[in-house]
Amino acid sequence: MMQTQTWWKEGIVYQIYPRSYRDTTGNGIGDLRGIIEKLDYIASLGVDIIWLNPIYDSPNDDNGYDIRDYRKIMAEFGTMDDFDELLSGMKARGLRLVMDLVVNHCSDEHEWFKESRASRDNPYRDYFHWWPAEKGTPPKRWSYFDLEENAWQYDKQTDAYYLHYFAVKQPDLKWENPKVRQEVYDMMHFWFQKGVDGFRMDVIPFISKDITYPEIDAKEPHEYIAYYANGPKVHEYLNELNNEVVSKYDAFTVGEGPGISIDDALDFVHEDRKEIDMFFHFDLMSLDRAPGEVFKMRDGGYSLPEFKKVFTDWDAAFAKAGWGSLFLANHDFPRTVSRWGNDTPEHWRNSATLLQTFLLTMRGTPYFYQGDEIGMTNVRFTDIEDYRDINTINRYETVKKRGGDLEAFMDSEQHAARENARTPMQWDNTENAGFTSGTPWINVNSDYKTGVSVKDQLNKKDSTLSYFKQMTALRKKYPALVYGAYKCIKAEDEQIYCYTRTLESERFLVLLNFSEDTAHFSLPLSVSYNRKIKVISNDKIIDDRTFKEFTLRPWQAIVYRLEN
Ligand code: GLC
Repeated sequence: MMQTQTWWKEGIVYQIYPRSYRDTTGNGIGDLRGIIEKLDYIASLGVDIIWLNPIYDSPNDDNGYDIRDYRKIMAEFGTMDDFDELLSGMKARGLRLVMDLVVNHCSDEHEWFKESRASRDNPYRDYFHWWPAEKGTPPKRWSYFDLEENAWQYDKQTDAYYLHYFAVKQPDLKWENPKVRQEVYDMMHFWFQKGVDGFRMDVIPFISKDITYPEIDAKEPHEYIAYYANGPKVHEYLNELNNEVVSKYDAFTVGEGPGISIDDALDFVHEDRKEIDMFFHFDLMSLDRAPGEVFKMRDGGYSLPEFKKVFTDWDAAFAKAGWGSLFLANHDFPRTVSRWGNDTPEHWRNSATLLQTFLLTMRGTPYFYQGDEIGMTNVRFTDIEDYRDINTINRYETVKKRGGDLEAFMDSEQHAARENARTPMQWDNTENAGFTSGTPWINVNSDYKTGVSVKDQLNKKDSTLSYFKQMTALRKKYPALVYGAYKCIKAEDEQIYCYTRTLESERFLVLLNFSEDTAHFSLPLSVSYNRKIKVISNDKIIDDRTFKEFTLRPWQAIVYRLEN
């Protein structure tokens, strides 16, 4: 049965990290006018929805994920007038806008927190999680970005600890307090009334946590998540949020879903539950991580059968109800082609375009991160001075203080650091890739000089960028690529990812060679057809005249339409 059809299932999302997109003032920081300048380019990609990372007023301890004022634009990015102009420019081009909703925590410079920490009887006291010191030291909680990895920060003024699962300047809001929830809903109405089309909800399962704070007997940070997130009230809050706000607009929500498992998936996104519309699970992002580590990759990368399994299992979860989201990278992870493909000169183009083919032929809403369309790669900084991210810098300090192996740490960050994804967008081959006329806030990846730039690829028929546009057009043309049933063929094959997508009489066969070698594939008897018509390939087809036998070049992708 075909699922209900809506624009946010059919849409292709393009994520913009405004700080690194385009700087128009020369201060080295991307801004809203920079995005306005590039709207024609964005529309030309064939994408439909833009997700903007946070653009709200913030002291930028965690690049905007620490919000000081939810209704104000970050001064470095521009003004509310710029925002209004950006939104109307988007609407004029048929583009929709999804904003980032960061409400598990705010900045310690937010008025609410300033009030809250002022005295124990302040009306805002209960907006945050406090632990009075007379109760003793609070049970250990691990924090993502804290120098001591401690989520409880002692605050002298009221002799109490406050909870911050992220940086010390990101105190967790107390969703148990109905006033907090009302503040969030009012703020969401404010943006919806301006015309935004949805929200990407930062670490949303964290809004309900175990606030009885039992001692945790967990060794690894990721084991803590059960206590930190998906607490007893998570569904109640999400349902309330939907009811009070989102349901009143033609809008959608996508949650960032650390800790949400396949078994729980439909509890969040089943249409009947009226909570959220989709979420980003973390199974793929953890696939090639070192055991017990959050920010480190394992040696040897990933194997194709396990990669397929993640996608196949998650597809099955949403086959009858709910809807999935598809992504290979974002601002928190290394670059798509460097992580899942091969960014050496020989394989870079084919692997970048193969991965585009993959996301655009799977079921679920595809999310591309800025620069994926031109195959941007990991920057692999070698010097700690190159990094700006609190996550890398604080972990470096922690390793140093403990006398750990700094060289190994730096080496690991080359593959794992978030800033691999955050270097400036590469527009052309002039200095700083045309991102800024000043000094960029973070160094540009030097491969803009050797073909990884928009200008270089724009008019080349066989460029990564041109291929991306052809692929987005294909997805638009064939509803089967959006809604069609997915079937994985030969899940155990270690080189080729093969699947079909079927919607009534429309059927596609996708063959992707995830390897550096030429690979052979024989279709099993279960896939029958009379005629196959090539729809697209990122390379010349070697020979597919033999029925059901295929030979693919390294990182070659081929999509066929099948006729009975
Ligand atoms: C999410 C964001 C990340 C941020 C963190 C804390 O994971 O994507 O960038 O640092 O939440 O807000």
